[in-house]
Amino acid sequence: MRKKIVAGNWKMNLTFDEGRQLLNELRLLRLDDDKVEVIVAPPSLYLSQFSFTNSNTLSLAAQNCHDKPSGAYTGEQSAAMLASLKIGYCILGHSERRSMFHESDEWVADKVMACFAEGVSPILCCGETLAEREAGRHFDVITKQLTTVFKRMDKKQAAYMIIAYEPVWAIGTGVTASSDQAQEMHAFIRSLISTELGREEAEEMRILYGGSVKGSNAKELFDQSDVDGGLVGGASLDFSSFKDIIDAI
Ligand code: PGA
Repeated sequence: MRKKIVAGNWKMNLTFDEGRQLLNELRLLRLDDDKVEVIVAPPSLYLSQFSFTNSNTLSLAAQNCHDKPSGAYTGEQSAAMLASLKIGYCILGHSERRSMFHESDEWVADKVMACFAEGVSPILCCGETLAEREAGRHFDVITKQLTTVFKRMDKKQAAYMIIAYEPVWAIGTGVTASSDQAQEMHAFIRSLISTELGREEAEEMRILYGGSVKGSNAKELFDQSDVDGGLVGGASLDFSSFKDIIDAI
């Protein structure tokens, strides 16, 4: 059985003290190790100070990394640096990075490979815009975003990968994909993994849903057979709203 994941993406939010308090509260939750894993992605500036939180049920993720291990890349951080801090996960290809920081599918694939090389598990985001969905192109967009990465991977790496389906029109808008829309896309993604990487790999890979997940809609989404948890933005910034989502597992 796939263990569910609830991941919180703080984006560029919370001061250091606010973040530390939130993590301290999350650390006190008694979570069932067999059922759920909580991952928190604070601003990278805080990662080294927050490594005290790493446990069986609570882990840290970075929100991005560069594809090169080191060099003259002002303002960037490498997967090797994350590994040196024992950061186990890195969100890659988030739609905000794709649109605001011009990250192409190929560049995202380079970053994924850099993470694998350092033993950091990528949380690979994919998602279509509203215009793409309305034009009926959503399956094509997701296929291109994911196969660009899958083509460069081997079966062994599949065990360390997590996918997050985040329709761009649902991120930070309060509009969530319906549970049917989410299940339809997640099943499609799983069949894509099966074709590109193998049937067992597809059965094992966790596919998270992201886009305006909150306590009131989490259970219905997480109950879908191919939805293995959520990647949560706004609702992960407050202990009680994030706990409501974790409780929905
Ligand atoms: P949201 O963000 O939950 O605020 O919609 C999700 C995300 O961008 O990961």
